[in-house]
Amino acid sequence: MTHVRQHRTQVVAHRGASEEAPEHTLAAYRKAIEDGADALECDVRLTADGHLVCVHDRRVNRTSNGRGAVSALELADLAALDFGSRRTRDFWRTRDEEPDWEFRPEDREDTSVLTLQRLLELVADAGRRVELAIETKHPTRWAGQVEERLMHLLKRFGLDAPDSAEESPVRIMSFSARSLHRVRAASPTLPTVYLMQFVSPRLRDGRLPAGVRIAGPSIRIVRNHPAYIERLKAVGHQVHVWTVNEPEDVDLCLGLGVDAIITNRPAAVLQRLGR
Ligand code: G3P
Ligand code: CA
Repeated sequence: MTHVRQHRTQVVAHRGASEEAPEHTLAAYRKAIEDGADALECDVRLTADGHLVCVHDRRVNRTSNGRGAVSALELADLAALDFGSRRTRDFWRTRDEEPDWEFRPEDREDTSVLTLQRLLELVADAGRRVELAIETKHPTRWAGQVEERLMHLLKRFGLDAPDSAEESPVRIMSFSARSLHRVRAASPTLPTVYLMQFVSPRLRDGRLPAGVRIAGPSIRIVRNHPAYIERLKAVGHQVHVWTVNEPEDVDLCLGLGVDAIITNRPAAVLQRLGR
């Protein structure tokens, strides 16, 4: 049976509500859920002892009071650090006004390193459907271990093998076609998103890597190549755009009928959408 779904643009909280709380912390994700985000975006990396943690950069220097590469640290090392640093806010600040942001953690967990397992627990306890867009970071370095651990963890939550891509509350994103290929080999029904920073000549006609149905272009691609977005839609792909923070970019995405807006400001985007 074919399901016809009414088009509704999803609002996805990028690293949580990362303009209101430090990125990738439980506090940022709680805020995004409270704000009404449809989905949460997170980056995952492997620690030296094989845990998947939600950290964007290769090193912890920008987002914590520690130093060093995630891959060289054990979970216990990361757990001793403070990820509630103000530096994350400064990183995203591009406007001129004085900072008006002050993060007041409610408990120790709000400033701790976040494991993917804890994020999955948060989503499971959300009390409503909240989707999760998980990005594998630098998967080539680990020769399949990131995807292996990811599938293992998703299985524990009963999320590894959805009946269909349409019904899955989890999707896997990557700039690496190889990483997405590994995910599809492990679970053909788990949706995958091919992230793009530029349009490669071999994909200009709207094709995506084999088996991928969702394109993840940057907002810069959308601004500079709207016809490419129309092409992706015309050939039947979904389009999930990152990172969309400015009102005019939200309007541009809506005008092009994109399927998901990935933003650091889920509350503002929801308001723009009249939700
Ligand atoms: O949602 C995709 C986007 O997060 C990719 O860029 O560097 O923020 O992980 P980055
Ligand atoms: Ca990301």
